[in-house]
Amino acid sequence: MDLIRRLNQIEADILLLVGDTSTADDDQLESALEKIEFSGPRLFLCGNHELWTRRADSHDLFVNELPKRVQALGWHWLEENPYVGKGVSVIGSVGWYDYSYAPAYLGVPHRFYEAKISPGAAQHLGLDHLVGPDLTPESLSIFARWNDGKNVKLGRSDEVFLEERLVGLRESLSRVPSDHRIVAAVHHVPFSGLLPPRHTPAWDFARAYLGSERIGELLLSDHRITHVFCGHSHFPIEKKIGQLHGINVGSGYRLKRFWIGHI
Ligand SMILES: [Fe+2]
Repeated sequence: MDLIRRLNQIEADILLLVGDTSTADDDQLESALEKIEFSGPRLFLCGNHELWTRRADSHDLFVNELPKRVQALGWHWLEENPYVGKGVSVIGSVGWYDYSYAPAYLGVPHRFYEAKISPGAAQHLGLDHLVGPDLTPESLSIFARWNDGKNVKLGRSDEVFLEERLVGLRESLSRVPSDHRIVAAVHHVPFSGLLPPRHTPAWDFARAYLGSERIGELLLSDHRITHVFCGHSHFPIEKKIGQLHGINVGSGYRLKRFWIGHI
C-alpha cells in the first residue's frame, strides 16, 4: 500500500508495471490495480507470478483471461500489443527463461533445471527418476526449488514459451512506426549484465530461471530502442548495454521499488 500511495503522488506521462503485481486466481490483481490513481496511460505486463495458478492451465490465463481482466480495468495489456504514443512507443513481454543463465560451476544436469528442483532436494524427496550416477557431491549438496515448477502450467517447454515471446516481441517491433523511439519492458532479465551478483550455490541454481540473453540480443538488434526495463530478480541495477540504457527496477517481496525519470 505504501508503494501505491507514493505512486499516486507522482506526476508522470506514463505508468508501466513490469510484472509480479499479484497472482491471478482471486481478485488481488483487481484490488491492487484499482488502487492506482494515474490519469495517463497505464501499461501492464505479466510477471511469472501472474501465471501461478491452482487451475490446470496458466497459458489460457495468460492469452485469454488476463488480457480481458486487465483491459476491463482501463489498463493497456502490453504483451504482443505495443503502446504507440507521440514519437515514442512502448513494447513489452513477460519474457521467460531457457536455463542459459545457469552457472556451469554448479555441475547440475539439464534435467534438474527442467524439473525446477536441485539435485539435493530431488534426492531428499526420493525423486529417483532424476537422481543418477552423474551427480557430483557438490551438486547433491544444493537444496533449492523454483516454485514456477509447481504453480505455472504452460503446456509447453520453457524454451518453446520463450521462443513464442520472442516472436511476439518481433511482431510488436514491426507494428511501431519506423521513426519512433522505443522503450522496451520485459519481466525476466534480458541481459546478463542486469543479473544480481553470484551468491550461494542454492541461489545460483535459481539463476537458471531469471531470464535469457536471447531476449537482449533481439532488443539490441533494433536501434530504435533506447531504454529496456526489467524486474524479476529483486536486485536493482542500471547499466549501459550497447546503445541501450538497461534498468532492472529491483522490486522484491518485502522492499517495493519503482523507477522514475526522463526517457
Ligand atoms: Fe518474477
